[in-house]
Amino acid sequence: MFRNTRDQYGLVARSLHWLTFLLVLGMLLGGSLLQFLPAGGLKSVLIGAHKSTGVLVGLLVGARLLWRLYNPPPRVLGTNSVENYLAHLVHLWLYVLLLLQPLSGVLMSQAYGYPVSVFGVVTLPPLVWHSDALAELFRRCHTVTAILLGLLVVVHTGAALKHHFIDKDRNLMRMLKGA
Ligand code: HEM
Ligand code: HEM
Repeated sequence: MFRNTRDQYGLVARSLHWLTFLLVLGMLLGGSLLQFLPAGGLKSVLIGAHKSTGVLVGLLVGARLLWRLYNPPPRVLGTNSVENYLAHLVHLWLYVLLLLQPLSGVLMSQAYGYPVSVFGVVTLPPLVWHSDALAELFRRCHTVTAILLGLLVVVHTGAALKHHFIDKDRNLMRMLKGA
C-alpha cells in the first residue's frame, strides 16, 4: 500500500507527487504575482510565506528523492523507446529544477542580506556572503529556472494526458489512484 510495486505507485510516492504539484503550482503563480504588488506590509508577508513554502518544497523534493532511492518507481508503461527516453529526461530535469528553484531563492535572499526564516521556526545558516552582484545573478537564475520549470510542467502534464486519452493506458490512473 505505502510502497511502489512493479506495477503500481504506492501511497507515499503518490502523496509526495500531488503535494509537490499543489505547492509548486501555487509558488509559480504566487511568485509571478509578487512583482506586481506595491512595496509594503502585504508584500513582505507574502514574500515571507513564499520563502518559507519554497524551502519546504526543497525539503519535500529531497525526501521524495531519498524515498525513490529506497523504493524505485514501477516499470515504464510506454512501448515507444524514444518517448520513454524523453519521459525519463523530463522527469530528471523536473527533479533538477525542483532543487535549483529553492536553492537559487535562498542564495538570492541571503546575498541581498535578508535572512531566510522558515515559518519563523528556524533561520537557515548563511550559505553565501552579502553581495548585490551575486544576488542579481541568483535572481536571474530564479527567474530562468521558474520559466523552465513552468514549461516542463506543461510538457509533462500534456504527456500524462496523452497517455490517458490517446494511448488509453494506466499511466495517469496509477499516479492518481495507484490502480
Ligand atoms: C519551488 C520553489 C519556488 C518557486 C516555484 C518559486 C517561484 C518564483 C517565481 C515564479 C518568482 C517570480 C520571478 C520573477 O519575478 O522574475 C519568484 C520570486 C521570488 N522568489 Fe521564489 N520560488 C521558489 C522558492 C523560493 C525560495 C526558497 C526563496 C527564498 C528563500 C524564494 C524567494 C523569492 C524572492 C525573494 C522573489 C522576488 C524576487 C524579486 O524581487 O524579483 N523563492 N519565485
Ligand atoms: C508541478 C507540477 C508537477 C511536477 C513538478 C511533477 C513531477 C513529476 C515527477 C518528478 C515525476 C517522476 C516520478 C518518478 O518517477 O520519480 C512525475 C511522474 C508523474 N506525473 Fe507529475 N508532476 C507535476 C504535475 C503533474 C500533473 C498535472 C499530472 C497529470 C495531469 C502528472 C502526472 C504524472 C504521472 C502520470 C506520472 C508517472 C509517470 C510514469 O510513471 O511514467 N504530474 N511527476
